[in-house]
Amino acid sequence: MSRPLEPSGGFLPPESRFPMLLVAAVWGGVVLAGAAWSGGAAASWITGHGWQGPAFGVDFARALLTEGPPRLWPAAPAAVVWAGVLTAVVAVVMLGVGLVLAWRRTVGTTSPHGLAGPRDLANLLPPASVQRARSLRPSLAASAEEPSGAALGITLGVLAGTSHRRRGDRTVRASWEDVLLAVMAPRAGKTTSLAVPTVLDAPGAVVATSNKSDLWAATATLRAADTGEAVWTFDPQAITGTAQTWWWNPLTAVTSVEEASRLAGHFVQEVRGEKSARDFWSSAAHDLLTALLLAAAASQRTLHDVYEWLNDPVIPTPAALLREHGYHAIAASLTGRQNGAPETRDGVYETARTAAQCLRDDAIMAWVTPPATDLPQLDTAGFATSRQTLFLLSKDGAGAAGPLVAALTDRVMRDGVRAAERRGGRLDPPMVVVLDEAANVCRISDLPDLYSHLGSRGIVPLTILQSYRQGVRVWGETGMDTLWSAATVKLLGAGIDDAKLAEDVSRLIGDHDVTVRSFSDGDRRRSTSTSLRRQRILPPEDVRALDRGTALLLATGLRVARLTLLPYYRGPRAAEITAALEKATADAVTAGPR
Ligand SMILES: Nc1ncnc2c1ncn2[C@@H]1O[C@H](COP(=O)(O)OP(=O)(O)O)[C@@H](O)[C@H]1O
Ligand SMILES: [Mg+2]
Repeated sequence: MSRPLEPSGGFLPPESRFPMLLVAAVWGGVVLAGAAWSGGAAASWITGHGWQGPAFGVDFARALLTEGPPRLWPAAPAAVVWAGVLTAVVAVVMLGVGLVLAWRRTVGTTSPHGLAGPRDLANLLPPASVQRARSLRPSLAASAEEPSGAALGITLGVLAGTSHRRRGDRTVRASWEDVLLAVMAPRAGKTTSLAVPTVLDAPGAVVATSNKSDLWAATATLRAADTGEAVWTFDPQAITGTAQTWWWNPLTAVTSVEEASRLAGHFVQEVRGEKSARDFWSSAAHDLLTALLLAAAASQRTLHDVYEWLNDPVIPTPAALLREHGYHAIAASLTGRQNGAPETRDGVYETARTAAQCLRDDAIMAWVTPPATDLPQLDTAGFATSRQTLFLLSKDGAGAAGPLVAALTDRVMRDGVRAAERRGGRLDPPMVVVLDEAANVCRISDLPDLYSHLGSRGIVPLTILQSYRQGVRVWGETGMDTLWSAATVKLLGAGIDDAKLAEDVSRLIGDHDVTVRSFSDGDRRRSTSTSLRRQRILPPEDVRALDRGTALLLATGLRVARLTLLPYYRGPRAAEITAALEKATADAVTAGPR
């Protein structure tokens, strides 16, 4: 029979703790007696009776305890002897306590359970994070004040087990060149602990997506008040109840075949899902949409025309327009498709129509086609260098505005990359992109590939998913794998119900030694022996059973840490945010559905 005791790696192996404590107690007594002896002798010397008194030894200790110090130095005044002895003893005790505290600060800071402690996470904590923020944001380096708090990066949480007093310097923040991914089950705190604080703390422009009004309701008015700049809400399905005050023309940026193909890709992502990029029907639909979008953009037409052309597989207008604007190859391919076998052609058109389903909804189209009244257009090119905020909302499912949310998010991010390149590499302040419920409403097909570019440009994406499988359904196994590896900071919260992910994470966290005591019943007597055994620091079942309000942090090159999340409703702005949330929700109810 064997039984693991507790992780080794502490200062002492458990079986030698008792003898060592005994030895420490004996020596402690000797040192204290020595202190008392020196204090008494010093008192005698100061009062002019010489450095003399009882000999140091067991007899001295016994006499000290039974008769009291004044009897041992009878020549000196009792009060002075007491003062000398007590001063020396107190000084030695304080020195001992000081040494123990200093030792615990240096040695005792690695988590005893094998997960990362403050020393392992030093890179994400001050002073290293201050240094890094200054090098990534020249504007901070230029200011005389030392950057602190949210200026250092996106707040992830506080190292689990940290006392309230030390929370300030144990709050873990990602840097401004990290790209983030969070995977947590519903109601694990994704919106309240990550999305809301990240949007409110962001130093520059913010893009935030969601399929619910919660994130918008909690942050929109406060962001407007904090920044004094515009807050744009793209809400074609009236989730928040705000009226439309602006519009965006997705065709403005379609100035090349490549741009048309990207825009078409956002629609096709609706039907592609886990299928490979080489799936015939979705690839053909992608080609078709590319041609139609390019024809409309080149001839200053609108998405209304695109939808009309989609419903008429033999209409010659788009091919003629493409030819007129010099896109001969695309025109030829479109004509070829229109003249092909009717079954195939109709199948391709049908797939394309399914992909672009949202274009048949007039309420959605109102946001992306020229409006009847004079509404301003969103300037995506200047957005990244402002402190403006863009909320994008869409419902889930077929026919929802998801492709347009993805297209606009993608547009703003890529315009941000361009702005950063023009400014010599990175945006300062950085732009933060919070993709809450990304798999439902912001299925940017090449998000996994974009991830590797964004960090170096001062664009910090935080993709929030409910599960790993949800990501696989959108980006495929390879795509999700790429996203997972590209994310330099990953947060895994409560409710990881995926056996493979739990096992992988447990394996990534690694093993540690535990002391195992074995009992064996021999012929005459029972014997025990201890041995070391390698064991998972966090077995898969513990990864699965992670508490709500906590998360595992997997940051590149660092040991895995357990963090306590910091929901806004327990933060310093709780009252303000709750009031804003309640007001926005009440207003939305009054406004009613469209
Ligand atoms: N003001 C609040 N006070 C206490 N608990 C709250 C408050 N707001 C939300 N919660 C709770 O926090 C949990 C996480 O919510 P949320 O962050 O919206 O989850 P999700 O991960 O689905 O985005 C929920 O169980 C919710 O009931
Ligand atoms: Mg949420």
